[in-house]
Amino acid sequence: PTIHVITPTYSRPVQKAELTRLANTFLHVPNLHWILVEDAQRRTRLVTRLLRETGLNYTHLNVETPRNYKLRGDTRDPRIPRGTMQRNLALRWLRETFSPNSTQSGIVYFADDDNTYSLELFEEMRSTRKVSVWPVAFVGGLRYESPKVNAAGKVYGWKTVFDPHRPFAIDMAGFAINLRLILFKPQAYFKLRGVKGGYQESSLLRELVTLNDLEPKAANCTKILVWHTRTEKPVLVNEGKKGFTDPNVEI
Ligand code: UGA
Ligand code: MN
Repeated sequence: PTIHVITPTYSRPVQKAELTRLANTFLHVPNLHWILVEDAQRRTRLVTRLLRETGLNYTHLNVETPRNYKLRGDTRDPRIPRGTMQRNLALRWLRETFSPNSTQSGIVYFADDDNTYSLELFEEMRSTRKVSVWPVAFVGGLRYESPKVNAAGKVYGWKTVFDPHRPFAIDMAGFAINLRLILFKPQAYFKLRGVKGGYQESSLLRELVTLNDLEPKAANCTKILVWHTRTEKPVLVNEGKKGFTDPNVEI
């Protein structure tokens, strides 16, 4: 199957570095299709060129998150979680592009632009029949969070401290979905409004599967194959001084 990797991304000083690192990983993965969705009014020149130069198989989309939705902590207008509109646009693109009866098999994975992905992860997700799951490092205040797997290899809960009673207490990087399921449930999207922190993943997954359907990967969820790393913001305090730096140089 083709692995359709959906990545929301937005403009900031480290964007090109993040996307370069991601592309370098994806170049090692056979049969990968990268759906990169810019959180921007239009597709930017920086991202357009970068994608072209990677040699990857890709689709370049864009949708801007309305500004007022980005404000954190405004109670009158609760924020839309980061990357949500972009991931939903990619889901719509898949549904418009592939027919449910198509013989083309596929896997869908949501890969944020700042995480760290092992190559083994992509081989694990390739055999996903409905939804596969695995642990993710550096989330929820822990070294890692993980699905709970019983002796029979069934997922029966969540090893998390933060709200383990969520329907699916799992980070975005911790699951993959068979494309057929996305196509057969055309109403399933991430909810934009009224989603409490940590419930975004559940808002999509509960439309697609039940706990009983989940397929544990990564040696029954005992191996860490993805890290929820976050990139430090670079210090640019000397920008704008004495003509530093040349704004024509792309970083
Ligand atoms: C955590 C989760 O790992 C994300 O999957 C989830 O979307 C996010 O929380 C949330 O619910 O808000 P975190 O590391 O805090 O992730 O978020 P970021 O990595 O900053 O953003 C997630 C993705 O959205 C990234 O690919 C980022 O480039 C993109 N993004 C972020 C946008 O497209 N627009 C933004 O304004 C911010
Ligand atoms: Mn992140």
